[in-house]
Amino acid sequence: MSRTTRSSCSRSCRSLLGLLLCLTLLLGMSGCGSGGDEAPVLRVGVALYSQDDTFISALVQHLERLAREEEQQRQIQIRLSVMDGGSNQTTQLEQVDRLIGQDCDVLCVNIVDRTAAAVLVDKAEEADIPLIFFNRQPVAEDIARWEQVYYVGARAEESGTLQGQLVLRSWLSDPEVDRNGDGVLQYVMLEGEPGHQDTLLRTAYSVKVLTDAGVSVEKLAGESASWKRGQAMLKVQQWLPELGEDIEVIFSNNDDMALGAIDAYREAGLTLPVVVGVDATEPALESLRNGELYGTVLNDGKGIAQAMMDLILALTDGSDPADAVELVEEHYVWLPYRAVTLANVDSVMDSGT
Ligand code: GAL
Ligand code: CA
Repeated sequence: MSRTTRSSCSRSCRSLLGLLLCLTLLLGMSGCGSGGDEAPVLRVGVALYSQDDTFISALVQHLERLAREEEQQRQIQIRLSVMDGGSNQTTQLEQVDRLIGQDCDVLCVNIVDRTAAAVLVDKAEEADIPLIFFNRQPVAEDIARWEQVYYVGARAEESGTLQGQLVLRSWLSDPEVDRNGDGVLQYVMLEGEPGHQDTLLRTAYSVKVLTDAGVSVEKLAGESASWKRGQAMLKVQQWLPELGEDIEVIFSNNDDMALGAIDAYREAGLTLPVVVGVDATEPALESLRNGELYGTVLNDGKGIAQAMMDLILALTDGSDPADAVELVEEHYVWLPYRAVTLANVDSVMDSGT
């Protein structure tokens, strides 16, 4: 089948599906689809950079739960095909080709390498399948290539700023943080994957809060541990013999790496400095409650999944996406971050985010 034939077929299938979904919604619970008729099927392709990532796998679980809830409410079937890119862009491109071949109605892509976004946008446009990028943000020019492309995520600089504010508060309120009493904040930085927007901006903005507030800082070490707990533990173990007693603050671009740092201190039997992360994953909240992790910043995976589901439904039932989610510059949905410490952990987590 030629590309043109397949893409116009997929277009007409999708508009037919839209019509069926609309009818289901209009008829509500009044028996549409009764008498043994199959509920209309919505096919959603989800391509992940890596399923072996604590935050991403939790986000997908939220998406799966929401799909089940919407199936009940709307009397439709939602088939999520989740693919694990294994941190390899070539693999992910093949997976996206397969999802397009399966005639999915919407594509959700957590892109491995943001510089490959243009190719993906062109593939989606050619097949006329709306494309939602999430968590890993392509550059603005690529998002602007086609009107049916969206990005759902959180602003990286905001998480860096909130993390910096947590550290500033502890520095100003607790003289013990300045272990050597020299008035300078000695820190190390555990970075996520090189080139990721969250790595670059969290690293820069967290420290900027301190320097903007007039705090003198000294960076003792900084390296990428690619978001991973095990890698972070190894890095910190390498730093400890030389820097152990000098480190006053450990900034970590995410919680998994912060927990890796804590593992290294625990194993060495050393007193923990101030350790801060980002994400508010379950194990991080447990560590915070145990008094190990000083603070974290909630990365709202549940909210991201909800916005994605709202967009998916709007894009396939013929309604205006701008009525379903708060769209910024026609393409972006931004979720807010929130700072979490022992003082507010229960209220933040109870508030549903
Ligand atoms: C970040 C998150 C990291 C990691 C990364 C993957 O937003 O804080 O833990 O999941 O996304 O892209
Ligand atoms: Ca000091």
